[in-house]
Amino acid sequence: VPTLGLWGVIGYLLGSIPFGMVLAAVMGLGNLRDIGSGNIGATNVLRTGSKKAAALTLILDGGKAAVAVLLARAFAGEDAAQLAGLAAFIGHCFPVWLKFKGGKGVATFLGLLLALAWPVGLASCATWLVAAVIGRISSLSALVAAAASTFWMVLFGHGDMMFMGAALTLLIFWTHRANISRLRKGEEPKIGQK
Ligand code: G3P
Repeated sequence: VPTLGLWGVIGYLLGSIPFGMVLAAVMGLGNLRDIGSGNIGATNVLRTGSKKAAALTLILDGGKAAVAVLLARAFAGEDAAQLAGLAAFIGHCFPVWLKFKGGKGVATFLGLLLALAWPVGLASCATWLVAAVIGRISSLSALVAAAASTFWMVLFGHGDMMFMGAALTLLIFWTHRANISRLRKGEEPKIGQK
């Protein structure tokens, strides 16, 4: 269906805007590739020392996926909304502008969930927060929240999202493969640490 494909492209393009890199450059915080994990997400932006830039990155990376979902839903319905959200996630993690080496998709994931089904999104954000308060490790919290999101989809009656949820969870484990090997060695830094 041409319209569905169009929302996939729009979602991808929105998702592929690397807000963390743009903000770090504009705010004079340096090149994120040379800092911490080298990732373009809010967790790594925080390692520059700017809480403001990190918060903005979180909001904009989440917001771009939410905008993709809400636009697609308004113009083309629920299937297009899911596709646009998934495409935004793919765009963030594999942006053509950065030779397909993008971010890990956590903020984007939470943003698309909030826009698709806000109870699932809120519960997933809360899962991340609780895990972060307990463990103080961003990547571990993301893995826990991603795995739990499928459970929240079932609990809140969004079984139609489960296939997408499972795909996103697998992708998040994939984008965090370096973090997982650091976690296994006990070498993953705590939130805010370099
Ligand atoms: O949002 C990404 C986070 O889960 C891990 O980021 O920079 O510690 O690899 P980082």
